[in-house]
Amino acid sequence: MKKQTIKDLLTDYKKVLHHDITVYGWVRAFRSNRFIALNDGSTINNLQVVVDFENFDENIIKNINTAASLKVTGEVVESQGAGQTVELIAKKITILGDNFTEELQSTILQPKKHSLEKLREQAHLRFRTNLFGAVFRVRSAVSFAIHQYFNQNQFFYINTPIVTGADAEGAGEMFGVTNFDLNNIPRNEEGEIDYTQDFFGRKTNLTVSGQLEGETAAMGLGRIYTFGPTFRAENSNTTRHLAEFWMIEPEVAFNNLEDNIDLAEDFLKYVINYCLENCKDDLEFLDKRFEEEQKTKPEKERAKEGLIEKLQNVVAKRFKRVSYTEAIDILLNSKENKKGKFAYPIEAWGADLQSEHERFLVEKHFESPVVLFDYPKDIKAFYMKLNEDNKTVAAMDVLFPGIGEIIGGSEREARLDVLKQKMEEMHVDEHELWWYLDTRKFGSVPHAGFGLGLERLVLFVTGMTNIRDVIPFPRTPKSAEF
Ligand code: 4AD
Ligand code: MG
Repeated sequence: MKKQTIKDLLTDYKKVLHHDITVYGWVRAFRSNRFIALNDGSTINNLQVVVDFENFDENIIKNINTAASLKVTGEVVESQGAGQTVELIAKKITILGDNFTEELQSTILQPKKHSLEKLREQAHLRFRTNLFGAVFRVRSAVSFAIHQYFNQNQFFYINTPIVTGADAEGAGEMFGVTNFDLNNIPRNEEGEIDYTQDFFGRKTNLTVSGQLEGETAAMGLGRIYTFGPTFRAENSNTTRHLAEFWMIEPEVAFNNLEDNIDLAEDFLKYVINYCLENCKDDLEFLDKRFEEEQKTKPEKERAKEGLIEKLQNVVAKRFKRVSYTEAIDILLNSKENKKGKFAYPIEAWGADLQSEHERFLVEKHFESPVVLFDYPKDIKAFYMKLNEDNKTVAAMDVLFPGIGEIIGGSEREARLDVLKQKMEEMHVDEHELWWYLDTRKFGSVPHAGFGLGLERLVLFVTGMTNIRDVIPFPRTPKSAEF
């Protein structure tokens, strides 16, 4: 028989009421030598196991403490207590494994409030806590909803290389990959590293984006998406950046910029809606945590809406669509800019927007998610379509409250001559990307796509504030042990 999870039991208890069943889990709390709160990770809710300790071996009772792993057989009965439908009257309890209670004292499994920093230091144990159980169940639901959305809309899932020779963003933020003996790196006569002696015979790195390969796939399959790990060797000491994160990149043949914006909005709303419908218990828990956190902040910085309310509002309203040029006007005329409140004041058209500017537009000015489009060509990547004004490109960024940029994308430059010119201007090596240029030689078509940072969306949905808290094993200098 299929093993029953605590979630199965709590949602479908009528089938097993007054029957004996077996459940497995970890002890979250053991009160009065009588009530065990058992959790198996399937849900935020614990199953209450009632132990009539006089009927049990004293040795077993003695060893049931926080974090112990148990197999419990007993009868499902309606619960007397508030807040739970059923409980289990234990008939047989087996302790499944060791539990070093002495060492437990210094871990985050101790049932008390731990700071997020402390929890991060023991990331491998975070899965046992209510908070991280909720966060990672929601993360899993977000990933599933993403696959479901694309599947329902006739997109094909494509895997792009993780080790690659291409710098897709042309931004030089790559981690090199090599099989050199690092104590004896081969060099040529000029003292430069000799990559011909590397396993790949060329310079390779971890991917910064699967987009360029994704475009080649879209040029045959029509609608594709990638979903994979992405690496950026950028200074990642912010609450929004990771050196290793997961990116979802749809690419669609025959789409223009407007189609691309429509797709991004529809897609984000679908995924958020999916979570609202399928992660109710976890979101309610996170909503309460979010509310508690707001109370610790100065009045001015508190969120105006609760977490669930915020998600519902984002799904209900159409995102604001604003050109870069309009956005710059708004920023230039803002009190904040005039009074020097921005760390990076906006001086003129052409300025790159910092997260403080994005958040001003979203949180103060429009009070809505915003899609900015038609950015100056000089601040965006080489592959974006040059607009007729010769100054801007058909780029789009989706900006979310509390997050800033959540999606970046564009219509692609489909004209070979214009693309080559842009590559030359931006010092992107044509020869290295010969295969990419082929897409513009044989039946080139307008096409567009974007990249969503998975962790930024999970941040938004869970109401967490540090990106390290929404990825199981954050890559930071401090967490190198994993
Ligand atoms: O804006 P980016 O750099 O765009 C691209 O890589 C394009 N090739 C996407 C495309 O058009 N197919 O990154 C896309 C998204 C950002 O909007 C952000 O959500 C996320 O990826 N992102 C990061 N997330 C966490 N840590 C980082 N260091 C990130 N850098 C980008
Ligand atoms: Mg970007």
